[in-house]
Amino acid sequence: MSDNNTGSNEPMEPGDAVHEEQQSPKRKVGTPTQGGRLLATDESEPAPQGAGAELDEAAAKRAERVVAAFFLLAALASVGFIAAYVWSGTQGPNGMHGLDDARASNYALGACMTVAMLAMAIGVTIWVRRLMTSKQIVQQRGNLHSDEATRAEFETNFMAGAADSAVTRRPLLRRTLLLAAAPLGLAPLVLLRDLGPLPEKRLRHTFWGEAVKEAKKHGRPGVRLVVDGTDRALRVSDFATPGSMITVLPEGVEKSHHALNEIAKSVTILINVPADKFKPVKGRENWHVGGIVAYSKICTHVGCPAALYEQTTHHILCPCHQSTFDATDGAKVIFGPAARPLPQLPLSVDDEGYLIATDDFPEPIGPSFWERG
Ligand code: FES
Repeated sequence: MSDNNTGSNEPMEPGDAVHEEQQSPKRKVGTPTQGGRLLATDESEPAPQGAGAELDEAAAKRAERVVAAFFLLAALASVGFIAAYVWSGTQGPNGMHGLDDARASNYALGACMTVAMLAMAIGVTIWVRRLMTSKQIVQQRGNLHSDEATRAEFETNFMAGAADSAVTRRPLLRRTLLLAAAPLGLAPLVLLRDLGPLPEKRLRHTFWGEAVKEAKKHGRPGVRLVVDGTDRALRVSDFATPGSMITVLPEGVEKSHHALNEIAKSVTILINVPADKFKPVKGRENWHVGGIVAYSKICTHVGCPAALYEQTTHHILCPCHQSTFDATDGAKVIFGPAARPLPQLPLSVDDEGYLIATDDFPEPIGPSFWERG
């Protein structure tokens, strides 16, 4: 591709200034572009007003202080942005604040970010206009490819420009610029907090495990199952009809810390599978009580409640994407997108005839990706 007026595609020899003069158009720019070739300054063009070269040292010092003040303001506003963000997360229960708080938070974040960006822009503009040497230069449009000599020349010019910008000579400017830039760079990082706290091991356990441990501490073999909604403990005799299904929870879960979360994770379906149909999973032969079996109600696909039970087929259905689990066979998936069976809760019966759980679910409940954490 040619970028001169003659349309010639011949590469130009570096240093052939006369040839380049004839072949290539000139353009005048304020500062050399990267990879461009600075041929000469054009002294005939007057330097713009406010050029640093025209300022005496006292005026330059004044300009330096003004720039530093803007950079400090940018730093303060960036810190204010982070503080406003953290503050908004502390409002309301569990960081869930109302509309007024959300609006105030948005105003505070927007105002802080605006002041930070504006102060940085003003500081940099004053720096360039008041402290850097401003001059017209003539640049030849040559080949895009740079040879070694051009690169070396660029490097020399770059270093000269850096010295000209006073960034090496004026540590106050350099430091305040870095101070302003650092929190600005950090500000987007704090937004990662919106992804929520790390789940750690919390998704691996439910309140069933905690309640069983507590019961065992007090000499009981397990925790009683209570009916969701009435909190009534269930005797085996209360649930003797084959084909029944009911939703149960661990006794005492409503008094636990973060009760709503614990209830959501512990929710379990209790099914009375006819004894002649029931096929206990190997190693779980004693996890049922006469065909009464308990599975997590949270679908292992993406977590909908698997709440439909077909008495005739003994299938548990998830209404969201039609995953179907076989209640007679360890809640194995027989249809649909779920990738694994519903976790099974080990059941037993206590001295008074109440159904109890003797341990937590053996694997994480809910969607399969939870297992990978
Ligand atoms: S959530 Fe149950 S099938 Fe998709």
